[in-house]
Amino acid sequence: MNQAVILAGGHGKRMKADIPKPMLEILDVPMLGWVIRACENAEISNLCVITGYKAEHIEHYLNGKYETALQSERLGTGHAVMQAEKFLSKDTEGNTLILCGDAPFMDAETISNALELHTAQNNSVTVITAELDNPYGYGRIIRSETDGIAEIVEEKDASSAQKRIKEVNSGAYWFRTADLIELLSKLTPQNAQGEYYLTDTISIALSEGKRAGVYLTDNQDVILGANTRKDLLMLRENARQKVLMKHMENGVDFVCTDGVIIGTDVEIEAATVIQPGTILKGRTKIGSHCKIGPNCLIDNTVIGQHCKLNSVQAYDSVIEDNVKIGPFVHIRPNSHIKSGVKIGDFVEVKNSVVGEQTSIAHLTYVGDSDVGKKVNFGCGTVTVNYDGISKERCVIGDSCFIGCNTNLIAPVTLGNGVYTAAGSTITKDVPDYALAVERGQLKVKEGYSLRKLKTKLFPEKDKDRNNK
Ligand code: UD1
Ligand code: CA
Repeated sequence: MNQAVILAGGHGKRMKADIPKPMLEILDVPMLGWVIRACENAEISNLCVITGYKAEHIEHYLNGKYETALQSERLGTGHAVMQAEKFLSKDTEGNTLILCGDAPFMDAETISNALELHTAQNNSVTVITAELDNPYGYGRIIRSETDGIAEIVEEKDASSAQKRIKEVNSGAYWFRTADLIELLSKLTPQNAQGEYYLTDTISIALSEGKRAGVYLTDNQDVILGANTRKDLLMLRENARQKVLMKHMENGVDFVCTDGVIIGTDVEIEAATVIQPGTILKGRTKIGSHCKIGPNCLIDNTVIGQHCKLNSVQAYDSVIEDNVKIGPFVHIRPNSHIKSGVKIGDFVEVKNSVVGEQTSIAHLTYVGDSDVGKKVNFGCGTVTVNYDGISKERCVIGDSCFIGCNTNLIAPVTLGNGVYTAAGSTITKDVPDYALAVERGQLKVKEGYSLRKLKTKLFPEKDKDRNNK
């Protein structure tokens, strides 16, 4: 069977990161996730990830889905693959793909085409290469007289003539598994860095009469890796632009793409406009004719058609059609906002259903609530869902009118068509079409403030009066 080993033991010292380098994210997926996805898309599901620096982060991310092997000392790429020996020995019949966990743009097409060439040429090893204008830092491909490969020379070991070679090693290879195991046992650390170079397997294979080949790709992106934060930003920009292009091809409209970051799994229908400062993440889906932004953060949320969201943060929720939200609204997880709802400024909704055409215009908290259709929330309504120990639900029927500054103390149920008077604190269920009013009696003390002001403005007079 064909399988893959992904090298992810690196630290990325130059990044000054405190997580493994392959765990740094491009859009909303770690670089390692991109590489795994390329394997999955190429239908390679038997994977072993080599971990090293802070391995627990990678273990946590993989969550038992794929095998790992720990490289406890960083002695080079060859040494890293040696750690997968157990994994490799389980099935020595097929081929093994080696990939770098920090080169996120390797793709399924390149992987599959390289395998095709590898098997057609009956190679022991096939190196994936590309030609770069600036090959600095990469291993150079030294061609043989017959235009095959002779060896790979690392930057630090290269002569100045070799440094001028533009064809470089991507760090990705197909090996016949049985040959890989044998070649690994022959590696030695005799080089400028004192490391076990995986690249040395090429010259060793050739010296033993085995076949080594090259798959030269014209997709230079598959080579790109990140050694510095600057490289990382460039990879992110590269990925961001590709995603934006895909959406434009699908008919999504961008006014200006400043600050617009869209995750790889986001789906948007045609004729929707995305405005600046908008970040779309996770499995977010947006229907057609929406206007999203400026300044929205939408994570894992499904939005229908003809919605307008301005300065909204929404997480793990569903928003139906013709909904208008914002500015400055927080839709927290597990909310279901139904069609035609209007939500205005400084409103928070959490774990609630908001029925069709309900309006929550300003300064309101709706948490753990089931709200009916055509309800009108007055300014400053609070569903008081937490008593310090447990959370309870509020149920609000259709066509209720909630007066300004109402507190609804959960658990509480309002029937259909209920009115609550402004400033009321509702602690008991209210039946259909009733008014609930809870207020202290208003007292009016005439002349009170005038007397108070006089004592403040004319304290002397006051003293005189007292002395008399
Ligand atoms: C390697 C190749 C070089 C190629 C380049 C492509 C060697 C000797 N050189 O160089 O020809 O052009 O990749 O990017 O293989 N890793 C470990 N354990 C180690 C060392 C590395 O897991 O002990 C992992 C790293 O996390 C990384 C990958 O292997 O994912 C490549 O390692 P890196 O140090 O970046 O190799 P380069 O020197 O860049
Ligand atoms: Ca590298």
